[in-house]
Amino acid sequence: MYFPTKLALAATVMTIPAAINAAPLSTRDHINDGIILNYALTLEHLENAFYTQGLKNFSSAAAFSSFPPTLFPVLQGVASDEKTHVQFLEAALAAAKIPAVKPCTYSFPVTTAEEFVLVSGILEGVGVTAYLGAAASIADGLTLTAAGSILTVEARHNSLIRAAQGRTAAAQAFDVPLDFNEVVTLATPFIVSCPPENPPLPFKAFPTLALAKSYVGGGGYKIKAGSKISLAPGAKTQKDGLSVAFLTVTGPIFVDAVFVDGHDDAYGHFDVVVPAGVNGQSYAVLVTGRDTVTDENTVAGPAIIEISN
Ligand SMILES: *[C@@H]1O[C@H](CO)[C@@H](O)[C@H](O)[C@H]1NC(C)=O
Repeated sequence: MYFPTKLALAATVMTIPAAINAAPLSTRDHINDGIILNYALTLEHLENAFYTQGLKNFSSAAAFSSFPPTLFPVLQGVASDEKTHVQFLEAALAAAKIPAVKPCTYSFPVTTAEEFVLVSGILEGVGVTAYLGAAASIADGLTLTAAGSILTVEARHNSLIRAAQGRTAAAQAFDVPLDFNEVVTLATPFIVSCPPENPPLPFKAFPTLALAKSYVGGGGYKIKAGSKISLAPGAKTQKDGLSVAFLTVTGPIFVDAVFVDGHDDAYGHFDVVVPAGVNGQSYAVLVTGRDTVTDENTVAGPAIIEISN
């Protein structure tokens, strides 16, 4: 069979891009496979920088003594995989004669090994949602397979890190596909500046959405279905007519968003009751109305919420 043979032959970084190049890059909804490869490379650069910095900061197994001893070699393996993903995507873009985005300057909210592991697990989870969300827009079958082959590895990274944190490795039966703008919204806070010559990508970040300051620091409190949480937008929003949508592959689950002024949050926050039907690393967006989630009616987010049912 053509497909597996091609993939079996593609044992090195250099041969899969050649296979990708064998098919023309085609366009779907103004987004072509070249743009998606650069989008993926943007995320892989971020992950690569995160692990390069992090394993410099926390460079021995002793730094991770509050975790199972299996974690340090896992992190080293993850770092190596992310570097390889960068090289792979750069080679794929070079083979297609498309300029590749270069790494940006990043800022990660990490001062302890525990925070490093926390952000690591979150980034790997976001990687899964990004590749899954992009899948439907990839035109070429071999590019889709290559993206899928990265997605499954990101999912295993995420599970290994979650397990080391004592979290459920695979918290639910389905992962969540996030769209391009939603993923860019999650990546943007880590990006300080990018080389001006980077090809611009046709995506934009929404205002951020995060657990409210007054809410964070609840000391090991686990968020479950029925928990009342507060989500703070990173920009001024309307107060009425909004809802929060928890994203799932079968469609959003909408809940009321009740505006609360002031407290410690610059733009107030919205009180929300976590619905049933979402578990693990979950994603919630603030939207107008309550029957659809599109780029047009998204007000802020996604927020990342760890739900432990
Ligand atoms: C590494 O340490 C530097 C200096 O303290 C810090 O700015 C950076 O955020 C850290 N990065 C990671 C991923 O640990």
